[in-house]
Amino acid sequence: MPIGPASVVSHEHFLGIRTVMHIVTLAGSPSANSRSTSMLDYLRQRIGAANAQFSSFALDDFDPNALVQGHWDHPDVAALRDAVLASDAVVITTPVYQASFSGGLKLMLDLLPQGALTRKTVLALATGGSDHHLLMLDYALKPVLSSLGARHQLAGVYASPLHIEKEMDGRYRLGEELQSRLNVVIDELIDAIAPATAEPRTRHAARLALA
Ligand SMILES: Cc1cc2nc3c(=O)[nH]c(=O)nc-3n(C[C@H](O)[C@H](O)[C@H](O)COP(=O)(O)O)c2cc1C
Repeated sequence: MPIGPASVVSHEHFLGIRTVMHIVTLAGSPSANSRSTSMLDYLRQRIGAANAQFSSFALDDFDPNALVQGHWDHPDVAALRDAVLASDAVVITTPVYQASFSGGLKLMLDLLPQGALTRKTVLALATGGSDHHLLMLDYALKPVLSSLGARHQLAGVYASPLHIEKEMDGRYRLGEELQSRLNVVIDELIDAIAPATAEPRTRHAARLALA
């Protein structure tokens, strides 16, 4: 089960301040160790747990029936909904499947209420077997996120096996060019959601973590 930020959020809301960035990640690959999720791992490491509270969701985190049949009252589904509604940003990764995003990701998105992404900063990351479906992010995923209320979508990042190599131990290694592209959008993400009340400390700490 993912760890949700509910206690932190309610405490902050009680005090009327926001001191921590809340980021939800949704991984649309059926594999936990995968090219697309390796980009999420990179983002989480670069921002750092000290600077943001992450609530991470992957397909394995859901009861399969609740996921496929959309059981709104299931605790797994409620955890996703609550985390997204309490978040500042949602970062999505997906492999390209048949020129679109994965069906698993669509099942997760279908569990969200209308307008769930309103006032969230949204970043989408995708991997494909080649560069042929680079525009999938704009033509397939973006309209779905817009229909969920996402008005602030950062430019997505797309990678192919040329950008992410599989190492001997089975782990994935991001190439330098891809890391540079990710660094740009990660900076944009931090700039968009770093809490105004904690801006100097948060940004400074985040930049140190990135150095
Ligand atoms: C069912 C299926 C369909 C796929 N369709 C495409 C496709 O249309 N275009 C493409 O570039 N890659 C396609 N691929 C390749 C995956 O997008 C690619 O291997 C991706 O990096 C996998 O990401 P992951 O390791 O995060 O699961 C497909 C792979 C599978 C399993």
